[in-house]
Amino acid sequence: MFQATTYSDNRVKSYELLIKQLDALTDGEKDEVAILSNASALLNQFLKEVNWVGFYVWKDNELVLGPFQGLPACIRIGFGKGVCGTAVKEKQTQRIADVHQFPGHIACDSASQSEIVVPIIINDKVYGVLDIDSPIKNRFDEIDQTYLEKFVTTLEKHLQ
Ligand code: SME
Repeated sequence: MFQATTYSDNRVKSYELLIKQLDALTDGEKDEVAILSNASALLNQFLKEVNWVGFYVWKDNELVLGPFQGLPACIRIGFGKGVCGTAVKEKQTQRIADVHQFPGHIACDSASQSEIVVPIIINDKVYGVLDIDSPIKNRFDEIDQTYLEKFVTTLEKHLQ
């Protein structure tokens, strides 16, 4: 059974604990839906001030909605489209302080104001993206980016 934890006030320590929890939750599991489902639930109970957290998986040249927590979302996103498709195209994290200033942003939940999308890359190929939306502007800083990228690196190890 997963035990809810009181995370430390120190964000770096909290993120380090989160990544250990991800490792423990996914250890020995190979089913991708199970891994991504638990990863989205783990992030959702950890992150404050987010309204959507989940995954899109790259299939037949487009991103397709995967396991997530939040309101129902758009199902398919093309290469280079929106923040998610841009993360795929550039193979780099997109950290967007104000989604309304991002040309081509795809609004799935009208509450979203800022967003971070981290590409998941396995053997040099894009597997998909981790997408997190917040109802407040400028929600994600460099610490979030660094540790969400480490979170994704851990996921990549388990998804191989
Ligand atoms: N805003 C994203 C679309 C996905 S939703 O946020 C869940 C984008 O522009 O790619």
